[in-house]
Amino acid sequence: MERTLARLRCAEDDVSAPANAAWRGVGAPAPLRCAEAGCGATAIEGNTCPRCGGLLEFDAPQGIGRDAVLQILRERRASSSPADRSGVWRYRELLPQIDVDRVVSLDENEIPLQTAPRGAAWAGLDGAAVYHCGRNPSGSFKDAGMTVAVSFAAARGSRAALCASTGNTSAAMAAYAARAGMGAFVLAPAGGVSAAKIAQTLAYGARVLTIEGDFDDALTLARDVGAASRAVALVNSVDPYRIEGQKCVAYAILEQRGWRAPDWVVLPGGNLGNVSALGKGFREALALGLADRLPRLAVVQAAGSAPFAQAWERGDDLVPVKAQTVASAIRIGNPVSWRKARRELQACNGLALAVSDDEILEARRVIGRDGLGCEPASAASLAGARALRRRGVMQPGDDVVCILTGHVLKDSSVPEPAAPEPVAATVDAVLGVMLKEKE
Ligand code: F0G
Repeated sequence: MERTLARLRCAEDDVSAPANAAWRGVGAPAPLRCAEAGCGATAIEGNTCPRCGGLLEFDAPQGIGRDAVLQILRERRASSSPADRSGVWRYRELLPQIDVDRVVSLDENEIPLQTAPRGAAWAGLDGAAVYHCGRNPSGSFKDAGMTVAVSFAAARGSRAALCASTGNTSAAMAAYAARAGMGAFVLAPAGGVSAAKIAQTLAYGARVLTIEGDFDDALTLARDVGAASRAVALVNSVDPYRIEGQKCVAYAILEQRGWRAPDWVVLPGGNLGNVSALGKGFREALALGLADRLPRLAVVQAAGSAPFAQAWERGDDLVPVKAQTVASAIRIGNPVSWRKARRELQACNGLALAVSDDEILEARRVIGRDGLGCEPASAASLAGARALRRRGVMQPGDDVVCILTGHVLKDSSVPEPAAPEPVAATVDAVLGVMLKEKE
């Protein structure tokens, strides 16, 4: 059994003590601190600062150095144990501590960097790498965070997991909760989620409750329900465990590149948990001596759902919007992690920008031509890279990694060119069409 005792600091004295006593397989819950600048409060569990209502986060890993991490990773490469193979749990010394036999894993974040020559050319780049999180067990980047969130929720005795979702969080939660033997409940915005994602979530046995309102309304409600019941684990990205899992994408990218950071990592942004997680991962890797420098993070929003990109360009605080975009996964108007995201962008000289729905759909088609494919929200990353090239912010020779966040089968509801007329069932008719297409 791997077990490390962390020292506890209780901010709220008696409130969390009984629940903590029941945590099984966790040496001791690691202290969380408020992520708001200057607040300084600490807590042991939950997702909201007891003092200021901000989000909580874990401290950077301590007590381990670069050489030890590299040695451990070398040894794990020869191992066939699921926790050693997982692209999250093989970095477990850099995560909150839990017994390995309590880990709920589905082989997440085992993803190779791939080239995307047509995508790169379209964006005006000499080359670009793609990190396609659609290869995850439930088909999106959410799995990297969900394995950590659900493992800890199960260890602390939660009976059910809950999330608000535009569809990918719900599918990931449903898969991992099923694996853990927990119930799973989703609050889905009415009419705002792709049918494929709902079907996938139901297939893992979760209950889906359609909520009147949009994603932002559903998340507010989910946070209230989570706060009202200790038996329920809220696993949206306000959960600091989710962020710990998703930060491993940064480690995995660096590891594959011999710990050399790219110039840029470009990713779509909705609720902004993912950019917060990647920023934390890269910063921690640099502090541990694992990375040579920080890559610049570029977070790309859809123009109709871009309150963060607008705030970034104004140099001001976020003003929520009523979100609209064809990319339903990132149809979010009041991103909960925007302060964390801003801090991460400031730390790495990053930036936020918006691209139009047309650019997103065009990028999606181009990514398809590379044989990769992705859902619309994911394609915002390549569309963002192209916009940055056009502005002259990115140079043709820059070393760029685009994160594709979800699988092509996740969302087929986007307007594509109209289906052609049916063709007569004869060889001549079919060949006629094929030859015409070739021209
Ligand atoms: N890309 C995809 C495919 C997503 O599903 C999401 C978020 C994002 C990007 C944005 O990530 O919120 O961390 O900035 N999907 C959430 C969900 C909201 O419920 O599945 P973020």
